[in-house]
Amino acid sequence: MRPARSRPRRAGARRGVVPPGPWPLENVLNALPGFRVKSDFGLFAGECALYRPKQVSKPTNFSEQPPSLPPRSPSVRAVSALRALHWREVSAIQEIWLCEGLCRSGMVSCAGDLLAVVVWVCFCGVRVDLRKVVKMVKICCLGAGYVGGPTMAVIALKCPAIEVVVVDISVVRIAAWNSDQLPIYEPGLDEVVKQCRGRNLFFSTDIEKHVSEADIIFVSVNTPTKTRGLGAGKAADLTYWESAARMIADVSKSDKIVVEKSTVPVKTAEAIEKILTHNSKGINFQILSNPEFLAEGTAIQDLFKPDRVLIGGRETSEGQKAVKALKDVYAHWVPEDRIITTNLWSAEISKLAANAFLAQRISSVNAISALCEATGADVTEVAYAVGRDSRIGPKFLNASVGFGGSCFQKDILNLVYICECNGLPEVAHYWKQVIKINDYQKSRFVNRVVASMFNTVSGKKIAVLGFAFKKDTGDTRETPAIDVCKGLLGDKAAISIYDPQVTEDQIQRDLAMNKFDWDHPLHLQPMSPTAVKQVSVTWDAYEATKGAHGVCILTEWDEFKTLDYQRIYDNMQKPAFVFDGRNIVNVDKLREIGFIVYSIGKPLDAWLKDMPAVA
Ligand code: UDX
Ligand code: UDX
Repeated sequence: MRPARSRPRRAGARRGVVPPGPWPLENVLNALPGFRVKSDFGLFAGECALYRPKQVSKPTNFSEQPPSLPPRSPSVRAVSALRALHWREVSAIQEIWLCEGLCRSGMVSCAGDLLAVVVWVCFCGVRVDLRKVVKMVKICCLGAGYVGGPTMAVIALKCPAIEVVVVDISVVRIAAWNSDQLPIYEPGLDEVVKQCRGRNLFFSTDIEKHVSEADIIFVSVNTPTKTRGLGAGKAADLTYWESAARMIADVSKSDKIVVEKSTVPVKTAEAIEKILTHNSKGINFQILSNPEFLAEGTAIQDLFKPDRVLIGGRETSEGQKAVKALKDVYAHWVPEDRIITTNLWSAEISKLAANAFLAQRISSVNAISALCEATGADVTEVAYAVGRDSRIGPKFLNASVGFGGSCFQKDILNLVYICECNGLPEVAHYWKQVIKINDYQKSRFVNRVVASMFNTVSGKKIAVLGFAFKKDTGDTRETPAIDVCKGLLGDKAAISIYDPQVTEDQIQRDLAMNKFDWDHPLHLQPMSPTAVKQVSVTWDAYEATKGAHGVCILTEWDEFKTLDYQRIYDNMQKPAFVFDGRNIVNVDKLREIGFIVYSIGKPLDAWLKDMPAVA
């Protein structure tokens, strides 16, 4: 397809009016009767504005008012201009589609060029159905999970001209995405999905069809930690990724950009590239690494306003073209200075390093929390004082029962394994400590509970408030609650759990599952053994705490701050204990009520001081 700018003038075009290409928009528009182009922002940067001086008589076909040009997106501006030109041939949605298609097809490179085409077409009375020559960009995402679902929903919302299809091998998951009960709980996600589903966002199990039709394929399938064989307990198992790559190679009939969205070990792109090119049948595949930095509970916010978008690609011209194509997608709503482009390996390492740094901060403050308890310091005060140093910053310094989530541990293990494989045992050992401190923090918490309650919890009811790995999500992957509950069950406690978003089935599965088994598609997860008998799950915090000896707060849900603790105390066995693993309760108030309170890294209750030492 020839770029529009070099298209020859058609017969029928008024001679001398439309200058021969290349066509600076300015010349084209200024050649039109009654139109002037104000180009003080630079037309080819897309910052163009049209206006029509009042004294000039209105030309037929053109609007009275200057178009209002919304900021940033070239295509949106182009659409406004199209509308203003009363180009009635196309309906609103087609206009957008058309403009995007033109830009993306390479026929035009910016709004300025696009306007030139449109004006030329209108002015010369040429009736070209541009829909026949331009193709809408199609995106397909493999894996409709916590990452794929929200990310694609936001792309669809922000890029109405792009068709986005999310595919998954799990029929149940896709059915849920197509229902009113989405498979994941994420604030703001419902509204985004409602706005785009059926318009330019689709969920399907017809994987091969949508992969073969797509221009850009995101891959966001599971990459579990290996449980056996080489690198067991550390290395990522790329089975799902590899079969995705083979399938893509198999069904593709046109060139594709394949985007790594899953967190993967460094150099995965190279392996995937090899699989694709060795099976390609002459098709050109470009691999990009575009790691996800969204955090659950704030995923939509993070996607709307990311600190940065990172795109890694090959340094060849094809690689850079692919990087630009993906950059153009994000540029619909992300300011350009927030889109970082790097080589493939830097992008892959950055993802692992970012998560390792974040987890390291938590392990650092958690290590200090143990020292605070031993010395009478208050970890919140210490963290505040430390975080006020602008070089350190205040975020991610909340001491807790330990970090959880699908990424931190897995990514650090990955990093550790990669370091070991590259002959860097000291570096591997350094990062391993972040996980060790996290494990220590969880067992320290369990020991506190048991030690405080006369060194045994056997047969005692312990209420667990919160099971998700953090608030505002129903996700329980690697939640510290699993290890804490297992620890208490090991001491024969009877546990009663309440979490506002986690189902009984999920909790039972988590407590029965082997380490690392969670990171497989739902229907491929090993069948759980029978439910753990000493565990009951309720949908009510007061029910869970009724008759309990102790309460453990394991997730920082806001509602736990405003519970009626007097009512809880009145219905508990005495002495009544609260073990706050997230430092959210008002310790003084609870002590006034009569509770014995343990808060991570805070000066100890007199009661706890007299109890056996904690490992
Ligand atoms: C996923 C991976 O788990 C994580 O390792 C990676 O870093 C990012 O992508 P997430 O979206 O949170 O993260 O995982 P999950 O919710 O488990 O979603 C993965 C989806 O992929 C599942 O719905 C699963 O059914 C699907 N899948 C998996 C496929 O469609 N095909 C496969 O071959 C494997
Ligand atoms: C993380 C990264 O933040 C995100 O950029 C990446 O894409 C995926 O991994 P996520 O796991 O969703 O996101 O949640 P995050 O907010 O990072 O919390 C992780 C864990 O750390 C949670 O268990 C949380 O409770 C804990 N945490 C966090 C603390 O214990 N203290 C803190 O100060 C912050």
